[in-house]
Amino acid sequence: MAKTQERPFRRTRSRTTLRALSAVEAPQVMDFDSDFPIVIERATGARVVDVDGNRYLDLTSFFGAALVGHRNPRVVASIRAQMGRLLHGMGDVHPPAVKARFLSRLVRHLPAPDYRAVLSLNGADAVECALKFAAAATGRPGVIAFHGAYHGLTAGALEVTWNPIFRQPFEATLSGRGRFAAFPASDGSDAAAVLQQVRDLARAGDVGAVIVEPIQGRGGIRVSPPGFLPALSVLAADLGLVLIADEVYSGAGRTGTFLAGDAEGLVPDIVCLGKALGGGLPISACLMRPPIASAVRGAGHEAVHTSTFLGHPLGCAAGIGVLQALDRGLGARAGAIGDRIRARATSWQHRHACIREVRGRGAMMGIVLDAGVAAKVVQAALRRGVLVLTEGPRADVLALTPPLVLADRELDRALDRLESAIEEAAR
Ligand SMILES: Cc1ncc(COP(=O)(O)O)c(C=O)c1O
Repeated sequence: MAKTQERPFRRTRSRTTLRALSAVEAPQVMDFDSDFPIVIERATGARVVDVDGNRYLDLTSFFGAALVGHRNPRVVASIRAQMGRLLHGMGDVHPPAVKARFLSRLVRHLPAPDYRAVLSLNGADAVECALKFAAAATGRPGVIAFHGAYHGLTAGALEVTWNPIFRQPFEATLSGRGRFAAFPASDGSDAAAVLQQVRDLARAGDVGAVIVEPIQGRGGIRVSPPGFLPALSVLAADLGLVLIADEVYSGAGRTGTFLAGDAEGLVPDIVCLGKALGGGLPISACLMRPPIASAVRGAGHEAVHTSTFLGHPLGCAAGIGVLQALDRGLGARAGAIGDRIRARATSWQHRHACIREVRGRGAMMGIVLDAGVAAKVVQAALRRGVLVLTEGPRADVLALTPPLVLADRELDRALDRLESAIEEAAR
């Protein structure tokens, strides 16, 4: 195993800032009780510096948003140029010119040329839009989702987010329109049974849609087995269900294709994008095939599903920068990153019995560890200058979702440190 030096790790300024924050922020937002959080000062590419001057290599791309790298030069240039012209537009009345440029470019990356967009800010906004339009198109509000699913935490999205820890405090607000089928095992062994479950759940007369993450992110980096998505698509069509692909995490170039579903030729009725789409600025999109998009019409001069910042000029400009970066070669990097992580992490399994499984695709990889180990790895990695987080309902999966600009030598260094952190945590 490569030796990694543990360097002095300071948290004086982080602690001061966190103390001030804890006095003004609602207690559920952050983990103020532990000594875990650092306070971030700046980031470039895959390198991050905190307020104490500690340096990190980023294996998270900050919840997946900085896929093309922190402050990617194309993104920054595009935002700068836009800031010099117009900061805020009137998205659904007098739109900013950049909205048309962004959407024309975005739809060229989708599996059919006729998707129609509603822009918003967060991933959950895109999911809200998808659920509303699907219900309007079918007249049936029920939605089938999958165990482990994470679709966001706004009122509608929460209906189809599976993890009880997010649902429980708000149980009284849930209508129960979300129904959950098992997420299929990665070897496909139960895929037929899962499809049967979908068929059974759809028998409840109010079900109009099925929403799926081609690769579950927050559910623990779980890849749907080959053939499952196409079969689900055929089944949805048979049952008259709208198929919603939630690609908020897996999409926008993370897994080697623009959408993770592209690897299997999936053409969903609705695609949700967010996170990486804005390169660090908040922008998301709900993209719908024409019959769904046309199911909701404006009322006179009022758009009926819109928001103040729809098509925000800076988000659109950032999105153009992201698409340029992906198109000019960065998109091809995802596969190589995934292969390198898989090869290294798989080789660790011989040395570290706590590693149960290595899974994922492209820059969306998961290392499944014995119960209780992953959280310790995250702490030990932080002290070694690596940012990594856990995913999965039991928080037992190290999620490696690095920016695509991470060079091989940086990735190798980060992985050396991560292995050292795993060794310490498993002791
Ligand atoms: C697949 C998926 N959908 C939706 C969301 C919600 O996105 P946001 O947190 O931007 O609202 C997430 C967030 O992690 C996600 O992973």
